[in-house]
Amino acid sequence: MLYQRSSALFAEAQKYIPGGVNSPVRAFKAVGGDPIFVKKAKGAYLYDEDGNKLIDYIASWGPLILGHAHEPVINAVIEKAKQGTSFGMPTEIETQLAQLAVSMVPNIDKIRFVNSGTEACMSAVRLARGYTGKDKIIKFAGCYHGHSDSFLIQAGSGAVTFGSPNSPGVTQGTAKDTLLATYNDIESVRALVAANKGEIATVIIEPVAGNMGCIVPSDDFIKGLRELCTQEGILLLFDEVMTGFRLGKGGAQEALGIDADIVCFGKVIGGGLPVGAFAAKNEIMSHLAPEGPVYQAGTLSGNPLAMAAGLAMLTELNSKPEVFESLAKKTAYLHEGLDAVLKGKDVPYRINRFGSMISVHFTEEGVVDFASSAKGNNETFKKYFHGMLEHGVYLPPSAFESYFLNDDLSYADIDETVNALKKVNL
Ligand SMILES: Cc1ncc(COP(=O)(O)O)c(C=O)c1O
Repeated sequence: MLYQRSSALFAEAQKYIPGGVNSPVRAFKAVGGDPIFVKKAKGAYLYDEDGNKLIDYIASWGPLILGHAHEPVINAVIEKAKQGTSFGMPTEIETQLAQLAVSMVPNIDKIRFVNSGTEACMSAVRLARGYTGKDKIIKFAGCYHGHSDSFLIQAGSGAVTFGSPNSPGVTQGTAKDTLLATYNDIESVRALVAANKGEIATVIIEPVAGNMGCIVPSDDFIKGLRELCTQEGILLLFDEVMTGFRLGKGGAQEALGIDADIVCFGKVIGGGLPVGAFAAKNEIMSHLAPEGPVYQAGTLSGNPLAMAAGLAMLTELNSKPEVFESLAKKTAYLHEGLDAVLKGKDVPYRINRFGSMISVHFTEEGVVDFASSAKGNNETFKKYFHGMLEHGVYLPPSAFESYFLNDDLSYADIDETVNALKKVNL
């Protein structure tokens, strides 16, 4: 496949945009080569500026669970846009989306809309601190919660890809309040809690991690975390920006059978428009301005176009819950297919999967945390990524990212993907 026009557009973009992109992982730094410029997309396919058609396993990094340019979503946005794009005043559709989201997700009474997953996590942590009156937070190495200062401490995906887990610009003062634990290791959390008794506001976690590849929490770990937080008066914060409305109507809380105290959303809840949200029981949410003293605001929060996209998306997911099962089956089928081909190649590999999230790691050991994920062979990953691309399959351009399947992917697309892998030299 040729990517001449993409390369030319990238060269032009680099003159005016740092690194030529508006979010680092798009730049292909981890895999080398120039990024592909997309022109349009429909269903499971991307159409790039050179006229190539690619099977998409990213779905805009998760939001497009029902495929690209999904008609009910597109129509809802078009109709809404005709009435004006932003008012900075309350609109009925905000309540409609809030009501629907609250009805789908366990253990939440109220939800506040923001513009991104970053904002959701940042605001949720402020709320947790305001509610508990404590300053410190625990996060897990390799988990990514957006790019706000408190989280850029051993964050996964983009931050790891670029080798700057502690970004310049994050002050020591901020960093000292973020304590780092090891995913799937409850003892690492217990030790931090014991050493910082009574000082921890919240433990924030990706309940199924997607930013060090897909990593599934063990039962003991996630249950242990819930128990520990309850015992110690610490709020358990599930960052469901990836998993929310993807692993089921009720996200990871429902899929894992664990109630969190605060839940963050992004991606699917906006149907492909910029929406994030955080939610909790009334007792916690009542601390948020204007009801309570914890400040949080946004000019474009609850934007009508974004709400229309989110409402159309969640309405469909709510009325067709079988879609989650269908996606999980397709993902299992992909898993089997990739596994069968990789077995015949002379490279160690591991495949992790949960629901419609899956990732391939070129390593001997099980991938259960950031350290084991980082052992993956990036040279093999590069060959895999570029080889698949050469055969029309667009995978995440970093070994630290999960794939996100969308429901427009057919079994024939998955067969084509598996056949592509047969032709790739690793
Ligand atoms: C788990 C998780 N939390 C938060 C974020 C940040 O969301 P956004 O990129 O919308 O700011 C991401 C982004 O990928 C994420 O995966």
